[in-house]
Amino acid sequence: MSLLPSPKIPVGVLISGRGSNLQALLDACAEPDYPARIVLVISNKADAYGLQRAEAAGVPSIVISHKDYPDRPQFDAAMTAALEQAGVKLVCLAGFMRILSEGFVTRWENRLINIHPSLLPKFKGTETHRRALEAGETEHGCTVHWVTAELDSGPIILQKPVPVLANDTEDSLAERVLAQEHGCYVSALKIAAESLT
Ligand code: GRF
Repeated sequence: MSLLPSPKIPVGVLISGRGSNLQALLDACAEPDYPARIVLVISNKADAYGLQRAEAAGVPSIVISHKDYPDRPQFDAAMTAALEQAGVKLVCLAGFMRILSEGFVTRWENRLINIHPSLLPKFKGTETHRRALEAGETEHGCTVHWVTAELDSGPIILQKPVPVLANDTEDSLAERVLAQEHGCYVSALKIAAESLT
């Protein structure tokens, strides 16, 4: 039996904005015992605040703008090339606001995870908090799942429920769900990374 610890899985994170989930993953990956390390952050937007978070953590980041490519497959191919060059073995979507092509999802099959702000299979797509309130849900939450060709439908890794309160607004509910997303993503990435070692 080897006493050496398993090597950390090299991870790429795709973002489009604020990057609070990215921050949670950066913090977790800084722990010696955590089974993943972030080797590249890609943003499709140059002004994404998450890029500053990557820089502060000393993690390489690049902007690949979808506007620089004639179509989705070519944009996705540019991201795959950058991820491969960085040696990425597992990709995390963390507030990445572009739909991915089938080619990208196939290339990263069983290597691609996403966080979604609802208890899937409920409320796939956007505006999940508003729809949860309108539906009169008493429980809402977040899900981390493997990404498959069908939007927000791949196998679930982990979910975290959040109670809906009587006086909740879209913003108050979103804030409470987001607070749970961070720990949920950290735990789910650990599970995903360990499944690859
Ligand atoms: C989160 O609510 C996440 O579930 C959704 O987009 C949001 C990203 O937030 N996919 P942040 O950029 O991680 O702060």
